[in-house]
Amino acid sequence: MQTKTKNGSRGQNTAALDQDKNKGTAIADRSEFLLHQNATPIQQFGTVRQHLPIGIDEDVRKSSVDALNQVLVDTMTLRDLYKKHHWQLTGPTFYQLHLLFDKHFGEQSELVDEIAERIQALGGISFAMAPDVAENTRIARPPKDREEAPVQISRLLDAHEIILRECREFAKQADDQGDDGTNDLLVSDVIRTNEAQVWFISEHLVDVPLVKAD
Ligand SMILES: [Fe+2]
Repeated sequence: MQTKTKNGSRGQNTAALDQDKNKGTAIADRSEFLLHQNATPIQQFGTVRQHLPIGIDEDVRKSSVDALNQVLVDTMTLRDLYKKHHWQLTGPTFYQLHLLFDKHFGEQSELVDEIAERIQALGGISFAMAPDVAENTRIARPPKDREEAPVQISRLLDAHEIILRECREFAKQADDQGDDGTNDLLVSDVIRTNEAQVWFISEHLVDVPLVKAD
């Protein structure tokens, strides 16, 4: 069909050119989906990339990655413990703890992302999937059943303490080896966040009267 323009002759020329361009040439279809692709992985879990120009030796990066992967799986477990307790909570403190547990869940989720991305930035590979987390965490698996709020809080405090103890050890190790970024992440983010969360939930385990003083 001829293109209509203000300039009739120019419209005719354009249409002629379009016809010439497409004459005899079929457009190769490159819009097809390439599904079910598979190949050998490009990096093995447990290794770090060799030549990463960030000024930290390969063996130091490897040791930081191993430490961070332990903190990662434990943080993912604690994160999920907070959501479990957020959902399954019951009792007179329901509202405040329901909100508090979800706030802590959100903060732990942010830590998970920071830790995993630090592992990648060091040339390593982070744990990611639930079965790998379950296999490697140091935090005990909770029952599927609903528990009382004080038991939930005790469970959370135990998990926090495992993370805090290992983080202090790993932070010192990173400091000794000159990995300042990992030390900073562990101290400024992971340790500080966990200590603050311990404060907020542990205060709920003090047996003081609600209405009438002793
Ligand atoms: Fe919720």
